[in-house]
Amino acid sequence: MSKPLIEALKGEVFDVPPIWLMRQAGRYLPEYRELRSKARDFLHFCYTPDMAIEATLQPIRRFGLDAAIIFSDILVIPDAMGQPVAFKEGKGPVLEALADPSAVGKLSVNAVVERLVPVYEALAGVKAGLPQDVALIGFCGAPWTLATYMVEGGSSKDFARVKSWAYGDREGFQKLIDMLVEATSAHLVAQVEAGAEALQIFDSWAGVLPDKAFWDWSIKPIKTIVERVKATCPGVPIIGFPNRAGVLYEPFTRETGVDAISIDASVPCDWAARALQRNVTVQGNLDPVMLITGGKPMEEAARAICAKLNEGAFVFNLGHGVLPSTPPDHVAALVDCVRDKSA
Ligand code: CP3
Repeated sequence: MSKPLIEALKGEVFDVPPIWLMRQAGRYLPEYRELRSKARDFLHFCYTPDMAIEATLQPIRRFGLDAAIIFSDILVIPDAMGQPVAFKEGKGPVLEALADPSAVGKLSVNAVVERLVPVYEALAGVKAGLPQDVALIGFCGAPWTLATYMVEGGSSKDFARVKSWAYGDREGFQKLIDMLVEATSAHLVAQVEAGAEALQIFDSWAGVLPDKAFWDWSIKPIKTIVERVKATCPGVPIIGFPNRAGVLYEPFTRETGVDAISIDASVPCDWAARALQRNVTVQGNLDPVMLITGGKPMEEAARAICAKLNEGAFVFNLGHGVLPSTPPDHVAALVDCVRDKSA
């Protein structure tokens, strides 16, 4: 049976666009909070297939979305490379920051796929429990975004450490990026082998890079990942998400070889229709805060996005992930609105 999301990512135009939401599983769902309370910590949750399968399926049962995204995290990659990751309540991810370029030598790509077997088991389990027309998405973080967490030791405000390293020691930094290209490519291929039918590469911090650095550290590594994955898995569509890249979305879509581009909420949809949709499927881009607001403002904003992008290949999504304070009813109303059942 054909799946609307996959067809849309390959360029088919629909009257009613397929819809899924970044971070569609998570703390805004009471059933997620209940499940989460049983796990020792967040990574243990991600590495326990039964729990990851259940978390992945929760939003599908509740909202009937067109795609499930495997419940995992981008930071399983540094964790599997030998840089342990912890999630601290209210603080987000915490890693022991790479002190200097020599610390890269202690990391290893060899064991990544072996250590992430629980993620592949979860994918296979989800695939078995998914309605026939719902697609399964695998994902990874882009090398630049992963490097920011690895070098800063967690989230950052100004990215001073990682940028100084990238600007001042290009060759040393390139070694880290090359390792991440290898690790993420292998992880994406293994996810396809386990059942993923589409892939998304999250470059959440791409927008903090100036022009030339964006080419070097976002476009180039992602282009290599796309080439490698396509060599092994030619039919599997890949979505790129260079968050907050502004006008650089255009060269990103042209150069990387992605099949689809996820746009953040700051991108004007009429510009995206002209500049991006000629080359790729466009996915986006409702402001996640609109989903907290709900009601008429949300529905008007969703319809405006559809009106501008629905002439071409289009997947409805948010501009970034669902926020923890989102009322689940608003998500149901958004899905109805995009499918026009509540007009
Ligand atoms: O439903 C889905 O979209 C699948 C699951 C998913 C998670 N993280 C689960 C998660 C996905 C696709 C991600 C990607 C991810 N993780 C990104 C890229 C997307 C983005 O938001 O830009 C990034 C940067 C991360 C790193 C990360 N993971 C951070 C910064 C945090 C802490 C933030 C917070 O809200 O606490 C996480 C933890 C995390 N990953 C949670 C979830 C549901 C919340 C932790 C919890 O439930 O205790």
